[in-house]
Amino acid sequence: MINEQAIGFMDSGVGGLTVVKQALKQLPRETVIFIGDQARLPYGPRPSAQVKDFSWQMATFLLKQNIKMLVIACNTATAAALPDLRAKLKIPVIGVISPGSRAAIKASKNHRIGVIATEGTIRSNAYRDAILAKDPSATVISKACPKFVPLVESNEYRSPVAKRVVAEGLQDFKHSGIDTLVLGCTHYPLLRPLIQNVVGPNVTLIDSGAETVNGVSFMLDYLDIANTSSTKAQPDHYYTTGSATQFATIAKDWLGQPNFKATQIDLGG
Ligand code: SIN
Repeated sequence: MINEQAIGFMDSGVGGLTVVKQALKQLPRETVIFIGDQARLPYGPRPSAQVKDFSWQMATFLLKQNIKMLVIACNTATAAALPDLRAKLKIPVIGVISPGSRAAIKASKNHRIGVIATEGTIRSNAYRDAILAKDPSATVISKACPKFVPLVESNEYRSPVAKRVVAEGLQDFKHSGIDTLVLGCTHYPLLRPLIQNVVGPNVTLIDSGAETVNGVSFMLDYLDIANTSSTKAQPDHYYTTGSATQFATIAKDWLGQPNFKATQIDLGG
């Protein structure tokens, strides 16, 4: 029965766990199947065509697990592959950029919105286009922060080095007048306290991944495919193309699951 099938989540690495964390909270009956392509991250500096290929490989893997919905829990992959995946797959495909843009417009009072993301996402102009399509009076100030993802993946996201790198990366926003900043990469919520500290308490941070789960929840109801039994129909599964141990170290901490286990797989790309 389709309602009992899992939801597939895919990301270049552990960043997608920020989306999964929200899904576990908001949709505890839904089964999560997650794949992180840690062997090939970061996706941010890669050409868009290559990110699209890798995204198809992850999607194909998840489709073999019989998922009922696909969540691209990665901004770079959403920018590169969402239209193609959505056009060609028979299941609903949800990306993180539209939900993040919508939430930013809703939160901003002065229409000055900052966006931080990987080089690939910023280069695509996907956030700028999505925000201006809905609010033409907005001013969007975008900045690529390529040093942030490696900090998270190396489990250094609470270190003094992270504090310094985040402060340097966000210098441009100090006197920019933004009242809202989109965390346009699913890795960035792990740096949230450091980011908030630099931009100050008056800037609202938008977690694009968390906003996405609101959309997933809405779609499950709209399509009548939510799991209606009292527990998950099957156990969650987490896969990585990189080190399962490294992945589990961050996941245990971030998801608060001491018994967390991940399985290493090869996407054959
Ligand atoms: C990365 O692999 O560079 C991060 C991808 C993303 O979440 O945008």
